Amino acid sequence: MDLAVKKITLGSSKSKVAISVTKNLIPMIMDVVQFEVQKAMSSKLQQIDLENIPFGKVFTDHMFVVDYYNNKWQEAKILPYGKLELSPSISALHYGQAIFEGMKAYKNFKGENMMFRPHDNIKRFNQSASRMCMPKVPDKLFIEGLRQLIIADSDWIPEKKGYSLYLRPMMFATEERIIVKPSDEYKFLIIASPAGKYYNEPLKVYIETHYSRAAKGGVGNAKAAGNYGAVMFPSQIAKNKGYHQVIWTDASEHQNIEEAGTMNVMFVIDNVLVTPQLSDTKLPGITRHSVLSVAREWGVKVEERTITVTELIEAYNAGKLTEAFGTGTAATIAHIKTIGHEDKDYHLADANANSLSWKISEELTNIKYGTSTDNFGWMHKV
Ligand SMILES: Cc1ncc(COP(=O)(O)O)c(C=O)c1O
Repeated sequence: MDLAVKKITLGSSKSKVAISVTKNLIPMIMDVVQFEVQKAMSSKLQQIDLENIPFGKVFTDHMFVVDYYNNKWQEAKILPYGKLELSPSISALHYGQAIFEGMKAYKNFKGENMMFRPHDNIKRFNQSASRMCMPKVPDKLFIEGLRQLIIADSDWIPEKKGYSLYLRPMMFATEERIIVKPSDEYKFLIIASPAGKYYNEPLKVYIETHYSRAAKGGVGNAKAAGNYGAVMFPSQIAKNKGYHQVIWTDASEHQNIEEAGTMNVMFVIDNVLVTPQLSDTKLPGITRHSVLSVAREWGVKVEERTITVTELIEAYNAGKLTEAFGTGTAATIAHIKTIGHEDKDYHLADANANSLSWKISEELTNIKYGTSTDNFGWMHKV
C-alpha cells in the first residue's frame, strides 16, 4: 500500500491521523493528508437490531467529511454523524451540482471487514464529477476516507450472510452564491447505513413509454442527484398502479429498454443472458458488470445489445423469455415476476435454485462472504 498511516488514535475523543502520501502518486493533494478523528461520545448501536432494519433509515455513529475550496481539498475529518450547518444560498440547492455513489462493505466468514469493488465506485464517482463540472476526489483520499469510516464503525457491519454496511459517498456544491456557474466550493462526505434486503419480494415493474429518465447527450450515465428527483413523479404513478419500479425506454421513440429506476435490467431469452448495451443514457452498474463477468466465466452466452419492447413481448409470447431481473448495489439481484406494459401484465415463473439469476446471486453473495474464490480481485480488505 502506498499510504503510510503514521498515527491512528481512534480511541480518543479528538485525535489526528496523519497519512503521508507519496508525492508522485497523487499530484493533486498535499504531501500529508491530515485526518482529524473525533469519536462519537456514545454509540447508538446498542439500540439497533442490525438484522432487522428498514433500508437506508439508520446511520452509523460517524461520517467522513472533507471540504474543497481555494482550488484544493482541505483537511479530512471523521466526525460523529450529525447535522450539517449550511447556508440557504449554497449552489447545490439551486443548480443541482450534487452527485453520489452507493457501495457496500461486508464482514466475511472470517470476521474480516471487506469492501466490494471500491475502486470501481471511485472511478464512477469521478466520472460523475467531471460530467457535473465538479472537482475529482483523489483516489487515495477517497479510499482512505472509506477505510477510516469503516474502521470507526466496524461494529456496525452486520455479520449475517447477505447483510452489509451500505456506504454513501456524496459531493455537493457549497459556494454561497445564486448565479448559474460551477461552484468554487464543495463538500464531500461518506455516511454509512447497515443494510439487509432492499426488496422483500419479487418485483412488479412497468415499462414506461411516456416519461423519460435520460436523453442522449444528457447525464443519464452520471450518478447525479437530479436524475433521481426527475423520476419520482412517473415512478409514483407506477407505484400507485401497484408496481415497484419503472423500466425506462429510450427518450426519443420509447422502443428500446434502458434500465430500471435504481438498477440495470437483464433478461434470459432463449437461454442467452441479454442486457441493454451501455450508453450515455444508462448508469454503468457495477453489479451489472459483476453479473456479466460471472456469467461469462461460467460459459453462459451473454449479449449486450438493443432490446426492444416488441422483442421482449414476442419472446414472452413464444415462451422464450424465462427470466427477468434487476441488478444494483442496494437491491443486489432483484427477481422480476411481472412486467407491465400499457394495460397488460406479463407474468414470469418464480426464480428457483435452477435459475441463472439465482445461481449468480448466490455466487456473488459467496464471493462477498468469502466462501467462493474471488477470481476477479473484487474484494478489498479494510
Ligand atoms: C439508475 C441506476 N441504474 C443502475 C444502478 C446499478 O448500479 P450499481 O450496480 O453500480 O449499484 C443504480 C444504482 O446505483 C442506479 O441508481
